[in-house]
Amino acid sequence: MTSDSIENLSTESRTFAPSPEFTAQANAQAGLYGEADKDRLAFWDQQAEALIWEKKWDKTLEWESPYAKWFVGGKLNTTVSALDRHVTEGHGGRIAFHFEGEPGDTRTISYAQLLTDVSKAANALTSIGINAGDRVAIYMPLIPEAVVAMLACARIGAIHSVVFGGFSADALLSRIQDADAKLVITADGGFRKGAAFALKPAVDEALKGETNVAQVLVVQRTGQETAWVEGRDLWWHDVVDPQHSTHTPEYFDSEHPLFILYTSGTTAKPKGIFHTTAGYLTQVAYTHKVVFDIKPKTDVYWCTADVGWITGHSYMVYGPLINGATQVIYEGTPDTPHKGRMFEIIEKYGVTILYTAPTLIRTWMKWGDEFPNQFNLSSLRLLGSVGEPINPEAWIWYRHVIGGGNCPIVDTWWQTETGAIMISPLPGVTATKPGSAMKPIPGISAKVVDDKGVPVPNGHGGFLILDQPWPSMLRGVWGEDERYKETYWSRFPGIYFAGDGAKLDEDGAIWLMGRVDDVMNVSGHRISTTEVESALVSHEAVAEAAVVGAADPLTGQGIVAFVILRGGVEHADGDVLIKELRNHVAKEIGAIAKPRQIMVVNELPKTRSGKIMRRLLKDVAENRAVGDATTLADPNVMKLISEGLKSSKDED
Ligand code: WT7
Repeated sequence: MTSDSIENLSTESRTFAPSPEFTAQANAQAGLYGEADKDRLAFWDQQAEALIWEKKWDKTLEWESPYAKWFVGGKLNTTVSALDRHVTEGHGGRIAFHFEGEPGDTRTISYAQLLTDVSKAANALTSIGINAGDRVAIYMPLIPEAVVAMLACARIGAIHSVVFGGFSADALLSRIQDADAKLVITADGGFRKGAAFALKPAVDEALKGETNVAQVLVVQRTGQETAWVEGRDLWWHDVVDPQHSTHTPEYFDSEHPLFILYTSGTTAKPKGIFHTTAGYLTQVAYTHKVVFDIKPKTDVYWCTADVGWITGHSYMVYGPLINGATQVIYEGTPDTPHKGRMFEIIEKYGVTILYTAPTLIRTWMKWGDEFPNQFNLSSLRLLGSVGEPINPEAWIWYRHVIGGGNCPIVDTWWQTETGAIMISPLPGVTATKPGSAMKPIPGISAKVVDDKGVPVPNGHGGFLILDQPWPSMLRGVWGEDERYKETYWSRFPGIYFAGDGAKLDEDGAIWLMGRVDDVMNVSGHRISTTEVESALVSHEAVAEAAVVGAADPLTGQGIVAFVILRGGVEHADGDVLIKELRNHVAKEIGAIAKPRQIMVVNELPKTRSGKIMRRLLKDVAENRAVGDATTLADPNVMKLISEGLKSSKDED
């Protein structure tokens, strides 16, 4: 038995260095690490020069743990850095967005057009009484107006709170109340899975609750019949279209709040994570440039996240626009009208950089190679992953089947709370290992520590912490200061604890091992769910796996695995396959990690942002009634799994 907080079971020996050609043209070279180490604050000063400042800052950082102020005394307007400057610099004609609606409608929006749209919307917000500091809830499908609405808020210093369009009226109401929003911006509906869905009814339902919302601004997207509250509801086109097409920006303090974003809240009441202006913008622009290697003149960049998540904020709105990137945004689902839709879009627009989540990569794997293989994906030159640990086999599949074997992959670790990427390869520098986020980017300090806060040596596991403040760090939990201190800064006093387990391999590369709450304890060994899942996915029959520790009278916890098979694999003789999978795990990472039970399922319970909800699987594995499943993307999934489990037990 070891005393590690989490054990290090698996090893990975494959490495993939960037090609000399990629390195030669890369935005970030190896020297960047040394530069940042030499003088971290001077390094961030230099990165902040990428923004347009009305007044430069007096002081880089004021740090009184856990409160940070960055670029103190500076004044700026977010949208001047994201829009006006590109037009002024002569790039107004450059395409900001290729929008692809699910039904196939498209719009091409230049930077000049986007500036006009945002200016009009900013004028409109002012005309209906929204002022700097007011909170605005945005509840929309993934259409250009969602981006325009966010930027219009930023333009006038109003604080946006984007609520994912898939959330319920209840979830919307609690977020409106918590932030005390004055205005809701929404749409009649959007398109998803081949049909129009309605959004406005959820807003109407939410606003039956007690709020200070005086107005609802409604974008007409689908044209469906929409109930109307006279005096409260306003059509976007009625209010925005007649406005002046220019808007004189006001300048705000570096620490002016830019937005609130509620974390998915799989357990407790959602936390309103809030971010401020200059530090956040500096780090999203910098990371977007060095991690995605963006070349604004030639790249077509596609981040598949929704604006309802932090990834959509940082890497679809603020980072890419500050860098003048040309992007794709797609409203719909990956399998509408066919399972090749996203590959078709890559071919159509010549996408060069793709940023997506492991859950989608594993879904593509499950569907089979024939879908990507029908399209020409050779424009791709860089691939990114975010949201969960990417299993080594999914990484290899991504590299070969999507990237044609020659695109660097950046596995980027960060959180809603960190605001921007913290741990990631630099694509022209790092020899990557499939499944590892490798090391902190230049300017960032992260460590893996034991339960006393002491850094673990290479080859060991523990808790991932951030021991230096960073520009895009959250500035708090909206209205809940105690909760901010308690949640993030109390486990290791004065040090940010992210809630994730991690290990350092023999070379010091960082491997994320999932949330520490998910770590299993089998006969005194602390085993990461991620490692067992990756071992299962490394078997050719498995596309996706979720593993939980279930109470076990003998061993404390026993490992229970739920697996989805790859497209084309027949589950003809279940027992034979399951035995093989158990042995496979034993062979890959050791007998101690051999699952007690393995269930073949068709779907796994996931949050709307694609994270597996192991808590619910644990309920099933421990024969309990399934707990609160309201944040599930598909509420039926748990029923199917429970039923499948019963029948698999009957067979045993
Ligand atoms: C949690 C944060 C950051 C944008 C999307 C999620 C997990 C995120 C990785 C990665 C392993 C990852 C962590 C983290 N996570 N990226 N590359 N490898 N795990 O934002 O909803 O705030 O979730 O997602 O557990 O703490 P979020």
